[in-house]
Amino acid sequence: MTSEPIPFLDLRTPHRELEAELLQVVQQAFRTAGFIGGPMLQAFEGAFAAFCSTRYCVGVSSGTDALRFALLAAGIGNGDSVITVPNTFIATTEAITQAGALPEFVDIDEHTYNMDVAKLREYLETMCWLDSTTGSVISHRTGKRVAAIIPVHLYGQMADMDPILALAERYNLLVIEDACQAHGAEYFSKRQNRWYTAGSMGRAAAFSFYPGKNLGACGEAGAVTTNDEELARIMRMLRDHGQAKKYYHEIEGYNGRLDAIQAGILRIKLEHLARWNEKRRECAQRYQEMLGSAEGIVLPYEASSVKAVYHLYVVRVQNRDDLQRHLTAAGIGTSIHYPIPLHLQSAYRALGYEKADFPVTERVAAEILSLPMFPGLTPAQQSRVVEQLLEFVASTSAQVA
Ligand SMILES: Cc1ncc(COP(=O)(O)O)c(C=O)c1O
Repeated sequence: MTSEPIPFLDLRTPHRELEAELLQVVQQAFRTAGFIGGPMLQAFEGAFAAFCSTRYCVGVSSGTDALRFALLAAGIGNGDSVITVPNTFIATTEAITQAGALPEFVDIDEHTYNMDVAKLREYLETMCWLDSTTGSVISHRTGKRVAAIIPVHLYGQMADMDPILALAERYNLLVIEDACQAHGAEYFSKRQNRWYTAGSMGRAAAFSFYPGKNLGACGEAGAVTTNDEELARIMRMLRDHGQAKKYYHEIEGYNGRLDAIQAGILRIKLEHLARWNEKRRECAQRYQEMLGSAEGIVLPYEASSVKAVYHLYVVRVQNRDDLQRHLTAAGIGTSIHYPIPLHLQSAYRALGYEKADFPVTERVAAEILSLPMFPGLTPAQQSRVVEQLLEFVASTSAQVA
């Protein structure tokens, strides 16, 4: 008996379901020739700001631009260091470098795979010194002012924002959330005694709408959310060649706008995001129930202060590469996010980091595997994934015994 392959991600079904509505967006753009800016962009920006409970949303052409524009608008650049984690997509550090600053890393937490707040504190306390004339914190490592922290809400989880924000206040640092994988994730702040949506806690937050994201465009797209009016004003100029009025360039900017067609598509898809996220949570719950007692597999950890949206469902196993081969042979799609930590990437050799600098990230990178996860994943498909996983784990432990 042959079984249908199980994709890592099914992007076709949601587009088939929404095809008629999405085509109307394209038709509307053709009929009005409104390809750049205009009502479709404004409608999406308003709707996404409301979804994130922020005052402003600035649509841009990618999540990378969103991060870069947020840093630049906040005045971060040459002479600055920005702290982030080595377990993230390279866009986080590309944005830092391309803004003119230097990335510095702190390790991740063993359970959440997001920024380890104890390591962040230790870094600020022991690897930096306070310049009392300026009030700035200076990194021993780079000799530069530590200007900002970018916590990454990886896999649709949330970084532990309360202590991160407290440390940022204490050391006068800006916080820009990388929420590119966390549309709609929530965090309960004990400091404020309320839930917050990802993207509403930092000075600004970056979102990617790359097609495979929980909210994905039909091409490249991104956005920044913020409650800071001035920051929003500067980011609107940065995305549009530094102009607020056509051909009056207050600053030098970029070509980083969000297309009207993508904005129109995103506004329609946004209406379904909460339901899709709920389905992802149900799938995660099912994996948890099916795999809960299995030995040799570490399942995702969801802190009680977090409602994760499972952009990715990441498990950890020994012999990860063998498991991936086993699942591929069984027709099951998987992926690795990410196989090589950023501090060990060739692109960052000049930063001077070495192997064993971030032991948790390095250990995790060798063991993580992202299983199929998308809103339409069926219980039957999950059963097959789990069956193959358990078969592999049983055969490897039999070999060991
Ligand atoms: C954590 C993270 N940051 C930044 C980005 C960059 O987004 P984009 O690909 O839209 O530029 C991504 C997208 O993959 C991401 O996953």
